[in-house]
Amino acid sequence: MTSASAAAWSPGSWRGFPAAQQVEYADAGVLAHTLDDIAQLPPLVTSWEVEALRGELARAARGEAFLLQGGDCAESFDDCSSGPIAAKLKILLQMSLVLVHGARKPVIRVGRIAGQYAKPRSADVETRGDVTLPAYRGDLINRDGFTAAERAPDPSLMLRAYERAGLTLNFIRALVDGGFADLHHPEQWDMSFAKDSPHAAQYERIVESIRDALDFVGAITGTHSELLRRVDIYTSHEALALPYEQAQTRQVPRRAGYYNLSTHFPWIGMRTAQLGGAHVEFHRGLVNPIGIKVGPAMTREWLTGLLDALDPDHTPGRITLIARMGAAHVTAKLPAMIDAARATGRTVLWVCDPMHGNGETLANGVKTRRFDNIVSELEQSFAVHAAHGSHLGGVHIELTGENVTECIGGARGLTEADLERAYKSRVDPRLNYEQALEIAMRIARHLREVAR
Ligand code: PEP
Ligand code: CO
Repeated sequence: MTSASAAAWSPGSWRGFPAAQQVEYADAGVLAHTLDDIAQLPPLVTSWEVEALRGELARAARGEAFLLQGGDCAESFDDCSSGPIAAKLKILLQMSLVLVHGARKPVIRVGRIAGQYAKPRSADVETRGDVTLPAYRGDLINRDGFTAAERAPDPSLMLRAYERAGLTLNFIRALVDGGFADLHHPEQWDMSFAKDSPHAAQYERIVESIRDALDFVGAITGTHSELLRRVDIYTSHEALALPYEQAQTRQVPRRAGYYNLSTHFPWIGMRTAQLGGAHVEFHRGLVNPIGIKVGPAMTREWLTGLLDALDPDHTPGRITLIARMGAAHVTAKLPAMIDAARATGRTVLWVCDPMHGNGETLANGVKTRRFDNIVSELEQSFAVHAAHGSHLGGVHIELTGENVTECIGGARGLTEADLERAYKSRVDPRLNYEQALEIAMRIARHLREVAR
């Protein structure tokens, strides 16, 4: 195969490369028609928002801002309704406030939201009893019911996913424009159902002290402080289903290059980061900032090859490396990755995903993660970066704004027995509202120490 970077790129050039994690659609005609539809429809995000985010990520890479990226492992079509969306926005805003307070820096808020509908799977099939069917790959690809009809890839789901992403984004933009993030609206900043949380008092103090600071600035300058009335929320998802991503990739007036306007911030997952593979080929031609998951199997040569293919011009803010090593491996594996990236001469943004290396399956088959392992990977990551003259510039977390019971531990001490109470995720277990806020406080404490 010719080297990816040497050949001409087009939105469809990935089709000449081996593509992992893709599906076959039974009816090529329906597929082509659906993709044409999606390509005609307006973009979900705009190029100037994408440019703004890349600028902010460049600041984070230089240590001048901190990235909070979070949301569901997989969004589901059923959850595209006001309650879950508002709850997710609320927890992201609340976490970001806690992080601003700890870091004394701007926090860039990016949701795994408005398009996180396709999932890579370790196994292509799922067996129950004596029935084996294709694996569920996210609502954009197939349905999670266990029948052959539901598991068959259905092109119309791509259109449904595009529409639901649009509806989600519309609601988020309306909430934010309407003052959802205004610190003077206490109902948005209350700890909702978790008022009796062990962390409520600390959280209230943080909100109060920021409110005071804003009022103080307002009094001095004689203006009602707009500082936290309007915030930016960006979207991200794993750009996995390449036909869908290609359909939203286009040129825009008065700018060079191609933008994937299905999201501000696509990332390449661990299972699709092969050098010479279709996902790397597709992403290399996009102008968007790009995330790359870095797992324990990543080598120096592989990482260097990815950086050279995806960021030949050393563009500030272009590359975010999302390390997901696991608490047991991060201290051993991360240093070589930090060195390898630095040796290329690039200033990349390093982020810790403390979720995906810490999954475990209980004896009863339930997938969970332990809060302590999540915290441990975060703490080790801060320490490794500090010891290697680098800095951790962000976190990537699977969470929900709801009161689910999917991860074990946290201040309320959720146990294995609690998991069955409110386990909703169809894929990976997420931190619930209270656990997510607790993680933000732990991270804020570290950022405070680094800032001293
Ligand atoms: C994910 O972020 O949901 C995911 C599948 O991650 P990874 O590619 O790191 O396994
Ligand atoms: Co996940």
